[in-house]
Amino acid sequence: MSILSGKKILLGITAGIAAYKSANLVRLFIKLGAEVKVIMTPASKDFITPLTLSTLSKNPVHSSFYDTENDNELWNNHVELGLWADYFLIAPTTANTLSKMANGTCDNLVLATYLSAKCPVYFAPAMDLDMYKHFSTKENIEKLQSFGNILIPATSGELASGLVGEGRMAEPEDIVSFIENDILSKLPLRDKKVLITAGPTYEAIDPVRFIGNHSSGKMGFEIAKEAANLGAEIFLISGPSNEQIKHSLIHRIDVITADEMYKAVHQFFPEVDIAILAAAVADYKPKNVATQKIKKKDATLSIELKPTKDILASLGEIKKSQFLVGFALETDNEIENAKSKLQRKNLDLIVLNSLQDKGAGFAANTNKITIIDKDLNSTDFDLKSKSAVAKDIITKIIQKLDA
Ligand code: CTP
Repeated sequence: MSILSGKKILLGITAGIAAYKSANLVRLFIKLGAEVKVIMTPASKDFITPLTLSTLSKNPVHSSFYDTENDNELWNNHVELGLWADYFLIAPTTANTLSKMANGTCDNLVLATYLSAKCPVYFAPAMDLDMYKHFSTKENIEKLQSFGNILIPATSGELASGLVGEGRMAEPEDIVSFIENDILSKLPLRDKKVLITAGPTYEAIDPVRFIGNHSSGKMGFEIAKEAANLGAEIFLISGPSNEQIKHSLIHRIDVITADEMYKAVHQFFPEVDIAILAAAVADYKPKNVATQKIKKKDATLSIELKPTKDILASLGEIKKSQFLVGFALETDNEIENAKSKLQRKNLDLIVLNSLQDKGAGFAANTNKITIIDKDLNSTDFDLKSKSAVAKDIITKIIQKLDA
């Protein structure tokens, strides 16, 4: 799966002959699972039609600040467009647009959106060789780079003028790989391997019954997704869960019992950099598992239980350079219990869920956490969706790794 899958890409088109290649660019982004919106300078419509681009992007294409529809004037909000985008690509970028961008000129929708955009901006110049070589063009490109914009360099080849030299817009396939590689190279967790446990475990009583709990696995899965989106390779060891996950960087290993989870965790732990144990592992399992279904007999039935192995504590004992994160679900004296769990299990961070907080816990889609670090500093977070909570947890881990 491409890093661009699910991302929002705004494509700005300016008036160069290379604009005819923009149709292909839109197709490539869509094929990778990105959502694409196109904005154009008025003059670029001489090179490619908005209809082509709106058909391919499945979104309206705008080229002015206002559109007229049924005699109503509709404002095309450049601020909203700029904030909508995860990435803004201006391709082709003509010498004229380069100059205007470098100087903050704002006389069309593409430029106004550029000035409003908060996301990374890529620009792919296209012009004739002498224009590309010109001091003012070079200076404008350098100025734009110094503002943090990312240059996708023009290549050498035959130009529209018939001359041969540098100035051709990079090919759409190369633009797409350039952006993918650039994003990947900047991800904070690239080259990191992360082990995550999720979900409940089931401990068999007999062939048809088990001891389990209400954990959905959602929290662990959201953490896996977030870490993978930041470039980490994930080993997601999950107990029985209905959660689905599809990401090229996530390897899912399904287990059922605490013993199976223990084995899988220890198999992967030596090679990971970070381990986050979010699973609700059963603390006890039946001492003897009946080989036949237990029949109804007496008024009461006792099942003798014995403790399972504490996976998290076992990692705390053997960890070397790994960053170890545990969860604590507490009902009373939360902070004190979580702190002592962090120390007892030799953790780097502990994520506390208090069952006293409304909206927090197993089956909910929201969670409210407090994160406590090794130095016993605690940070409280608001009630949030589990995916937002996952972001907070991963952000905190990255902060600690960078500290
Ligand atoms: N955990 C584990 N293996 C177990 C039990 C728990 O790895 N057999 C991990 C959980 O994944 C979680 C952390 O330990 O990260 C805390 O689990 P919790 O049930 O809150 O704490 P316990 O250590 O079991 O302590 P207690 O039940 O006494 O609160």
